[in-house]
Amino acid sequence: MANTVIIGAQWGDEGKGKIVDMLSATSQVIVRFQGGNNAGHTIKVKGEETILHLIPSGILHEGKTCLIGNGVVLDVVGFLSELDMLAERGVDVSPARLGISKKTHLIMPYHKSLDKAREAKRAGQKIGTTGRGIGPCYEDKAARVGLRAGDLADPELVRAKVHHALLEKNILLQELYKFEPLDENAVCEELLSLAPRILPYLCDVEERIQAAVKAGQEVLFEGAQGIHLDIDHGTYPFVTSSNTVASNAATGSGVGMKDIGRVLGIVKAYSTRVGSGPFPTELLDDTGSYMQTAGHEFGATTGRPRRCGWLDAVILRETVRLNGLTDIALTKLDVLQRLPVLQICVGYAYQGQRLDYPPQEEGALARVEPIYEQLPGFEDDISECDSFDALPETVQAYIRRIEELLGVPVSIISVGAERRQTIIR
Ligand code: GDP
Ligand code: IMO
Ligand code: MG
Repeated sequence: MANTVIIGAQWGDEGKGKIVDMLSATSQVIVRFQGGNNAGHTIKVKGEETILHLIPSGILHEGKTCLIGNGVVLDVVGFLSELDMLAERGVDVSPARLGISKKTHLIMPYHKSLDKAREAKRAGQKIGTTGRGIGPCYEDKAARVGLRAGDLADPELVRAKVHHALLEKNILLQELYKFEPLDENAVCEELLSLAPRILPYLCDVEERIQAAVKAGQEVLFEGAQGIHLDIDHGTYPFVTSSNTVASNAATGSGVGMKDIGRVLGIVKAYSTRVGSGPFPTELLDDTGSYMQTAGHEFGATTGRPRRCGWLDAVILRETVRLNGLTDIALTKLDVLQRLPVLQICVGYAYQGQRLDYPPQEEGALARVEPIYEQLPGFEDDISECDSFDALPETVQAYIRRIEELLGVPVSIISVGAERRQTIIR
């Protein structure tokens, strides 16, 4: 069986957590390879909801190995609180089945302060970040001054790096942003006091993945965010600070390309976006409100309302070619119930031309006009349908049209938040 990368095909919150959880039943190792606790991945099993921000969504399956790769940025406090939440629910979170790469960069308190300070200063031009310090942490990684999880074993190295960082960050915080400076000793002491809880989890992630591959076990790579939030290929500058594309599963966890076979794109049956940035099919009318209410479209990390709109095949075509999608999991189809017509954006009108792919110039996506195709809606409740044939004709037609437009098969259909509300084709 092929190892699988799971990516969000739109702007995040497509239902990756649900699908990763479901596929974890037949995999042995589940790896996060980018992003941090800006992610919020929801799993619902027998009425109980679990939201994970850092720990891979395979953790609810007993005996599976969950790994946090080098490409992730780790908030130590956030990680430990997630660990405690799971332990309280009786989930085994021992180092025997949960590991962190020593190369994973750490999100420091000054990263969070800078994230918030910059957003506050960008009045009118906010990116709408999650405020989790993601961008500033990746900046330090690229600037080669970041702290990494492995550093926690070396208090002197931690102190030296924090000293160096605060020389610069405190000037920025205080002078430029008029924010509170951070106390070097306090930052070091807090981090070092938590180190003994983190150290047992540090491991050689590459080795653990290779051991699984050699043993013929299946590995799942769990993407966070969505392809159009990718730092290179997304709607720059309204993006996150990591590469969300499938190929980063290799870089962000330390495996070779040949070990990855299947690239499963999670596509929500409509579109949503949290934070700022262009969104051609956004609906600011009753239909958009209907999707928001019916789909409970409120952020799993920040609680912010998600902007809603029609499915955009132009955005998705770009996802297909950027990732080499092998198949699609189509989620939240049940949410579209009772809409009299379903619309799909099949192209953009832009400067007198018809585009099949998003324009690449910064800001241009905000100026395209979506070209829609209309399909009939459906009245029936589909949330208990357990096969493709059991779905109403109109729903089947909607799925087939998506496959035609994208040239990729829909192999999984999700009709409810519960683990069991899933149709495998
Ligand atoms: P992720 O970030 O991609 O993992 O997605 P989120 O967890 O942030 O958001 C998806 C939301 O939709 C969660 O509340 C899920 O419980 C819920 N969900 C997932 N699949 C379905 C589905 O097929 N139908 C409905 N109604 N809800 C779903
Ligand atoms: P999951 O994994 C949806 C968005 C933020 C903001 C932009 C940059 O749950 O799908 P950041 O804090 O990353 O610097 O914010 O990216 N964003 C997400 N939107 N789902 C996510 O994760 C997101 N992670 C970041 O709202 O617009
Ligand atoms: Mg989410």
